[in-house]
Amino acid sequence: MCGIVGAVAKRNIVSMLVNGLLRLEYRGYDSAGLVVVHDAKLERVRSAGRVAELATKSANTYGELGIAHTRWATHGVPSERNAHPHMSRDLIAVVHNGIIENYEELRTELTAQGYEFTSDTDTEVIAHLIHSHYAQGSLLVATQMALSQLVGAYAIGVVAADNPHQLIAARKGSPLLLGVGVGEHFVASDMSALLQVTKNVVYLEEGDVVEVNLANYRIFDQQGNAVQRAVHVSELDNDSVELGEYQHYMQKEIHEQPQALANTLESVCNSQSLVPGIFGAEANTIFPQVESILILACGTSNHSGQVAKYWLEEIAGIPCNVEIASEYRYRVSVPNPKILVVTISQSGETADTLAALIHAKATGHAFTLAICNVPESAIIRQSKLRLLTRAGPEIGVASTKAFTTQLAALFLLTLVMAKLRGRLNADREQQFLHELRHLPAAVQKVLALEPKIAEMAKHFANKHHALFLGRGMHFPIAAEGALKLKEISYIHAEAYPAGELKHGPLALVDADMPVVSVAPNDTLLEKLKSNLQEVKARGGELFVFADAQTHIKESDGVHILQMPEHAGFLSPILHTIPLQLLAYYVALEKGTDVDKPRNLAKSVTVE
Ligand code: M6R
Repeated sequence: MCGIVGAVAKRNIVSMLVNGLLRLEYRGYDSAGLVVVHDAKLERVRSAGRVAELATKSANTYGELGIAHTRWATHGVPSERNAHPHMSRDLIAVVHNGIIENYEELRTELTAQGYEFTSDTDTEVIAHLIHSHYAQGSLLVATQMALSQLVGAYAIGVVAADNPHQLIAARKGSPLLLGVGVGEHFVASDMSALLQVTKNVVYLEEGDVVEVNLANYRIFDQQGNAVQRAVHVSELDNDSVELGEYQHYMQKEIHEQPQALANTLESVCNSQSLVPGIFGAEANTIFPQVESILILACGTSNHSGQVAKYWLEEIAGIPCNVEIASEYRYRVSVPNPKILVVTISQSGETADTLAALIHAKATGHAFTLAICNVPESAIIRQSKLRLLTRAGPEIGVASTKAFTTQLAALFLLTLVMAKLRGRLNADREQQFLHELRHLPAAVQKVLALEPKIAEMAKHFANKHHALFLGRGMHFPIAAEGALKLKEISYIHAEAYPAGELKHGPLALVDADMPVVSVAPNDTLLEKLKSNLQEVKARGGELFVFADAQTHIKESDGVHILQMPEHAGFLSPILHTIPLQLLAYYVALEKGTDVDKPRNLAKSVTVE
């Protein structure tokens, strides 16, 4: 989704702004722009294309104060005229993430006051509103007055042509950070844009407005009171967002999974037993009261929740429901204060998941746990308990290492719940801990199959559709494989529990429909084999990811990828890897933009 970078310094900040936008490209965007204040004028450069084009266009621009933006179109088509920053009468410039819900009404009022609109965006009303108040006060006060008229979500950066050393920023419903430098300050919607200049960061809170100057800054809360916010030192380093030896971030992130899993499991694997405290101190009192679990998440994160349902019910014996966050928030459900509401999110900023969590709390759910990859994100801050996945920054839009680390975190939740419910004796606990310690090495072994998967991918390059099959806890893995393939290769892919095939989708099977099957050596194997026969008998081409000892043989129309030995309950994690690689190599064959698939955004911060 949209990205914001801003800076005030005693040097030319244009390259910093552009580099910051480059770091935010992964979030997804369709146009970019920046504005600097120079010689008491606003100098704006915009491009309907990539940030690289903006870099060329702004190569000779100079400014010591500026704001920049990547836009993911919501109101108005992607075009230069709709790209941010938006300006009011050459005096005020604004960048904005989020959606202003009452913009039509404000637009009518501002038009009546004589303001001329030059874009189709909701953002332009903010620029004119600030302008309309500016004559009566400072830029800070004018911004605060404008914000009080807005309904909706925003993170904004504001500069004025006649105010050469000051930037105003604010957030409500969209993330925004303040970067603290020495004699210079920065704002950004994402830490990765700031790592080039500082690791010292203030996470602005809901409703905060900040006045940023060269030497200092002042933060005001929603009521306008001056407040102090802690300065954190980010754990991220610049290298963690570099591509290094890889061709794409997705490939890099697939290969980072052994390390990401080891990091996520570190504290547990170094200990001799599992304790609720890994989810936060209050887990000791909350978990014993929990009667069932409700998981809320979207997309890939929802798939990890679906796998966890199998684990939680089978291993811990605790009822579990998994809901799509955007559906849950709008349906009438029956609240039960003994439910543990678990939100899962890589970014911690997904608007649908955040809103579902807030809705759950409003209906009386006090037990909330976030499984998330971003510390200090909105979802983490809204939750009582938390477990951070330590996957490191995930730049590719297609989620990979975030997914497998979410699974690891959910497996820990399962084990802790099982222990509390008397379903995990000491031997079994040690056995699971041993398997978790071995997990990174097991994933590494699967990654070694990459060349074979790259070969397999060639069969998909000319196809338009694909079916993915799985059974039991591997059905959500098949769904995740289908999602990966469709989002980066644009091949239509659907997943079915294999037993469902004969109830409809079998009609689709012919020689042009590759059928991918996850085939672990588990209790459902024989059933799955029968389902695969049904496909073969109808001339379908099968691509089977089969554990050793399944005895499924390569034959005409049946391609086998031999997986390592079955990994028990952790098998879904291992079977995810080849599906990620398959999608990646099919996308390479098709020449799509792997890390930035069309129409998609990394953090979906609008509804
Ligand atoms: O940041 P989140 O985990 O909350 O994001 C949820 C989905 O938007 C996300 O998982 C999406 O489905 C993936 N990019 C797919 O690869």
